[in-house]
Amino acid sequence: MVVIRSEWEIELLRTANQIVAEVLATLAEHIRPGITTKDLDKIAEEMIRERGAIPSFKGYRGYPAATCISIEDEVVHGIPSKRALKEGEIVSIDVGTCYCGYYGDAAVTLPCGDIDAQRKKLIETTDLALSKAICIAKEGNTINDIGKIIEDTCKKEGFSVVRDFVGHGIGTEMHEPLQIPNFDTGKPGVRLRKGMILAIEPMVNMGTSAIRILNDGWTAVTRDGLPSAHFEHSIVVREDKGEILSYSEKLIWGQQNN
Ligand code: MF3
Ligand code: CO
Repeated sequence: MVVIRSEWEIELLRTANQIVAEVLATLAEHIRPGITTKDLDKIAEEMIRERGAIPSFKGYRGYPAATCISIEDEVVHGIPSKRALKEGEIVSIDVGTCYCGYYGDAAVTLPCGDIDAQRKKLIETTDLALSKAICIAKEGNTINDIGKIIEDTCKKEGFSVVRDFVGHGIGTEMHEPLQIPNFDTGKPGVRLRKGMILAIEPMVNMGTSAIRILNDGWTAVTRDGLPSAHFEHSIVVREDKGEILSYSEKLIWGQQNN
């Protein structure tokens, strides 16, 4: 069953997601060569708790941190550690909160210093794919319309989308029943209705789509070792397009056509 949220519930979801967005914008300001992913995670956890929320990833199936920070060939679920960022790398940061029982979830991929043209293109394309998906997430369209537009956008640039992880419904749980593949499944799937809450999160690889999980049981990396990007917004389905709940005016992503 896919839940339709009332406007007062949407406001609580907005608060949870605004905390996520604020954390991501602050972490973006701290990205520089030498900073460790643990340093970033500490800032995130403090900010989340100061704002009266809980870091929802921590303790989820035993996950040990407030954020997932994935560098270069790490696709998602990188565990914060003493690893320091280096000039030229790309880093994805995924943050989740719970505020008054309502969940926030969003992610961005950022450059550390100067990055090469292919990495820049990978980041821009993944961001554009999310933007297009949000535009199409309106009443009457289907879940597969989202996957199709993401896959098309990325394939056009020669990139591939990860098939092992999908976007999801979000609300009073971090993962609610609805699954949102980032590719064309060949079937329309669920029809979108006003008030549905979706976390849309394309994961896009420079090379092949294949991934594997490291021995830590969490970190997903590309099999070919090439870089990967990840952007995510939590949105509410509206009459004309998706409305972004994890919006930040300090850090803009997923809004290229909105
Ligand atoms: N934001 C991710 C998701 O939507 C990461 C959650 S995994 C966790 O699934 F274990 F870190 F919580
Ligand atoms: Co998510």
